[in-house]
Amino acid sequence: MEGKIVLVTAVSGGIGQAIFKGVAPAARGVVTSSRGGKEAFWKDGGWPRNATHVAGDMTREADVEGLFKHALALHGRLDVAVNCVGGSMFGHRIEDFPADEFDQVVATNLRSAFLFTKHAIRAMKGNGEAGGNIVHVVSISAKKIAANKAPYGIAKAGLAKLVHYAAHEAADYGVLVNGISPGYVFTPRHETEIDEKAARTGKPRARVADGLVSGQLLKKHLLPADLLDAVRLLSTTRVMTGQIINVDYGEVLSY
Ligand SMILES: NC(=O)c1ccc[n+]([C@@H]2O[C@H](COP(=O)([O-])OP(=O)(O)OC[C@H]3O[C@@H](n4cnc5c(N)ncnc54)[C@H](OP(=O)(O)O)[C@@H]3O)[C@@H](O)[C@H]2O)c1
Repeated sequence: MEGKIVLVTAVSGGIGQAIFKGVAPAARGVVTSSRGGKEAFWKDGGWPRNATHVAGDMTREADVEGLFKHALALHGRLDVAVNCVGGSMFGHRIEDFPADEFDQVVATNLRSAFLFTKHAIRAMKGNGEAGGNIVHVVSISAKKIAANKAPYGIAKAGLAKLVHYAAHEAADYGVLVNGISPGYVFTPRHETEIDEKAARTGKPRARVADGLVSGQLLKKHLLPADLLDAVRLLSTTRVMTGQIINVDYGEVLSY
């Protein structure tokens, strides 16, 4: 990432923030985004001097366009764009899933990714030989079934297809489009949910947490920072495009 201009979305979330913290030290400049200002999620001081934050709703095209325009206006170019927006948001069986909740899940996970890709390609198509790299955070839910999460799995499967289409089209400009598919990541939000479940059920916390990794080939806790190696690879590759790498301790291969 040495010397690159990098854009990362959803830096208020567990995964986006870990990616931001991981790439910022080497990057020349970083533009970050989430719906709120950075005060909403960055409490500790030490905000990287090479980073600027832009508030925006990534389901709104004007906000997405504004984010990429900000990056170009400030740095004159964009090399890497990492999209971390998403979430499963609601849980119901299909027959009970309210249509407006379905729309929200699809907008958050798929519409946002489509708009991100559209404006990332526009921002990078003038880079010439240097090209660019777009990286999406997909999910193993694109392949596996998760109880009561049909819209999320459907949207992530759509995002996986978007990676393929975008790789085709962006190749014309030397822009490579790839994704990572994490398994269950122990983000701060998930840690809180585990605390709540342990309190609600009276089960030991460790048992609740271990139950979440029982389907993995390696029974380890996947942490947000564990995704960095794959993100760095896909942010700098000049030979891989249209690829989605599972980062999941082998969960998609389990029985
Ligand atoms: N955690 C996991 O186990 C896991 C596994 C596989 C894939 N993933 C994927 O990884 C990505 C990040 O997940 P996470 O666990 O880090 O999520 P998280 O901690 O719940 O954070 C969600 C992030 O998405 C942002 N966001 C949601 N809707 C948005 C919108 N309309 N416009 C702009 N930003 C929006 C939120 O920002 P604000 O609310 O601050 O605006 C927040 O930064 C998601 O795509 C998720 O589907 C997560």
